[in-house]
Amino acid sequence: MQTVLSGIRSTGHLHLGNYFGALRNFVRIQDDYNCYYFIADLHSLTTHPHPDDFHANVRTILAEYLAAGLDPEKVTIFVQSDVPEVSELYVLLNMISYKGELERTTTFKDKVRLAKAKARNVRLEDVAEDDHNDEGINISAGLLTYPVLMAADILIHRADFVPVGKDQEQHLEYARVLARRFNNMYGEEVFTEPRAFNFGSGLIKVPGLDGSGKMGKSEGNGIYLYDDEKTITKKVMKALTDSGPVEPNSPMPECIENLFTLMALVSEPSTVEYFKEKWNDCSIRYGDLKKQLAADICKVTLPIRERIDAIYNDDAYLHKVVSEGRDKARTSASATLALARKAMGFKVF
Ligand code: TYM
Repeated sequence: MQTVLSGIRSTGHLHLGNYFGALRNFVRIQDDYNCYYFIADLHSLTTHPHPDDFHANVRTILAEYLAAGLDPEKVTIFVQSDVPEVSELYVLLNMISYKGELERTTTFKDKVRLAKAKARNVRLEDVAEDDHNDEGINISAGLLTYPVLMAADILIHRADFVPVGKDQEQHLEYARVLARRFNNMYGEEVFTEPRAFNFGSGLIKVPGLDGSGKMGKSEGNGIYLYDDEKTITKKVMKALTDSGPVEPNSPMPECIENLFTLMALVSEPSTVEYFKEKWNDCSIRYGDLKKQLAADICKVTLPIRERIDAIYNDDAYLHKVVSEGRDKARTSASATLALARKAMGFKVF
């Protein structure tokens, strides 16, 4: 059986981007692969969460994983920091990771730019892409080496496939680079080069409903699995739209295309077709489209939502899931770490 691995940072409730980009796929493939799914609590530290919230955030992701249908009888579910072997491999991989390539990572560049815009109180567009002035901002080494830790997560279980959303494509590519580099440097096939897992349609980007860009926590435009019907409806009804098409078959502006992208994920194909026709003959009423979209989102998320609280409050069950998961993950991780150490020349006295 081939191995699948993926994780989600514990930064609060899961939104539709996390669900359609990652979690739904985790569930779909759990019968067919040897799956490791974890909660990336170490990665969440790059944004300095308050210690009072730290554990609750881990628990939230765990409860939402289980509520969405991950079955601990079939897959290994664990907390990243419960497997110290990952941190050790991270140290080893840092030695073969280069500052220049890490600085060129898109997510890193975006975050640095955002920090500069905030510190200077200017718009993002006002910070030049090649701006090298770091005054007034503190970018942690952890943020720079985020992709190295992610590579350690993946390589330590010799994962063949990694189900992630489009935004993680470059990080995944870096895990491939490090696997290759390590194997070449030390002359042994210690690591497997992981590939993205998708269902033939490419990696997806779930858009936000505020006009442009992706749905995300830091974008502040999330529709969450934990949202109730009223909240979801309110968020969808507030989605940005234009004044409507004036000519038949006109191209869609991004804000309208985003509504359709979301609709394609949650609604029946015939529903999407119906509204596309209405767009094309200029008779579309955005209010109707949004109402339908909200109802179809609820159909997907409310059955999951219903289960979250009971699972979240079940101490004994959660303890059992993560402790069994930790043991299985450590067994697999320590076997790979031993191979890496041996290849590098470490020897036990
Ligand atoms: P995180 O927590 O940012 O996102 C978790 C997953 O959700 C996907 N995602 C999206 N997909 C489509 N559209 C969106 N708008 C959207 N927003 C988020 C992400 O692509 C991701 O799959 N670095 C990872 C966590 C991680 C990891 C790993 C993943 C740490 N180690 C090892 C895989 C393997 C991350 O940023 O997750």
